[in-house]
Amino acid sequence: MGRAFTAAPLLLLLGLLALGLGAATANVGDSCSTGADCGAGQWCFDCEPKLSGSHCVRSAATNPFQLINNSLPFNKYAYLTTHNSYAIVGEPSHTGIPRITFDNQEDTVTDQLNNGVRALMLDTYDFKGDVWLCHSNGGTCNDFTAFEPALDTFQEIEAFLSANPSEIVTIILEDYVHAPNGLTNVFNASGLLKYWFPVSKMPQNGQDWPLVSDMVASNQRLVVFTSISSKQSSEGIAYQWNFMVENNFHLISDGDDGMDAGKCSNRAESAPLNDKTKSLVLMNYFPSVPVKFTACLQHSQSLVDMVNTCYGAAGNRWANFIAVDYYKRSDGGGAFQATDLLNGELLCGCQDVRACLQGSGVVCSA
Ligand SMILES: *[C@@H]1O[C@H](CO)[C@@H](O)[C@H](O)[C@H]1NC(C)=O
Ligand SMILES: *[C@@H]1O[C@H](CO)[C@@H](O)[C@H](O)[C@H]1NC(C)=O
Repeated sequence: MGRAFTAAPLLLLLGLLALGLGAATANVGDSCSTGADCGAGQWCFDCEPKLSGSHCVRSAATNPFQLINNSLPFNKYAYLTTHNSYAIVGEPSHTGIPRITFDNQEDTVTDQLNNGVRALMLDTYDFKGDVWLCHSNGGTCNDFTAFEPALDTFQEIEAFLSANPSEIVTIILEDYVHAPNGLTNVFNASGLLKYWFPVSKMPQNGQDWPLVSDMVASNQRLVVFTSISSKQSSEGIAYQWNFMVENNFHLISDGDDGMDAGKCSNRAESAPLNDKTKSLVLMNYFPSVPVKFTACLQHSQSLVDMVNTCYGAAGNRWANFIAVDYYKRSDGGGAFQATDLLNGELLCGCQDVRACLQGSGVVCSA
């Protein structure tokens, strides 16, 4: 495509226009050779061996605040979540030492947020007298496991919140920072403190969260959780397990527990999934060791099946967060469709949030 338009500039312009119009009508599942062949909110991806050849697949989430409304409590919506959001393929070394560790995502945190990701899982470490995002073992960051200073990523989040005044971002920290006020200093330096949602407004006993519209009106649009309990009193950073339950994904004897069909049980740090004193439910769906090649297959029916399994395990509660690796890889709707399913169930009891809207053309199959 495009090669034919070698004549006059006007023809070229018309041709580009036609391509643009053509792209707008491409559907998920259509063949493609580049992203330009696909419609808005899609990219061109080859999900071998599930589907042979490249097809348009989804690359963006539906925004429930925009599509429906934002007048419900924060815990009545689902948020697409990237696991190890910072561990990005091709991120250059910031230490001068080549990195030897796993990666989990393929585009920048800015791109993730622009594509509708609303929760980020970050591993924070003391390193080089500062706070860094590293993919390490044993709580220590090394030159060869370091991705970047946390400040860089926090600044990307700040830029997004500043440019999108109706959006809320959640950060879930696997926290190894022990420097006093280490995290607070970086949140402050990045400009993120001004969006801080205070722990005092978080429900302690299973009540609903504040309304999204109120969080937006008060500009308290950054929700942060840490894995270190003492920071809730020392720095005012919410201890994740006081507010959220989460299923296991750690490797156990029989394989990847979080991905075993039909099983959804809490990870060791979390209360049982059906503990309703925690108002938020997070579903992990990724293997212990990230594998690009299988991510596409995993982001299909098995993901939807696990959403339903975890609903039952959580005491008939739909997950609020759905965390995946390589979030854009799928054979069609992937993690985006699974998020639409959750928002549909949460907001109107339909299997797709788009069906909550009369006249959307999406049928409610409740
Ligand atoms: C944030 O930084 C400003 C400017 O450096 C400083 O005055 C303020 O005390 C800091 N706030 C916190 C909570 O650390
Ligand atoms: C927002 O959407 C929810 C879910 O569809 C609905 O129950 C609620 O009445 C709506 N609120 C407003 C103010 O429109």
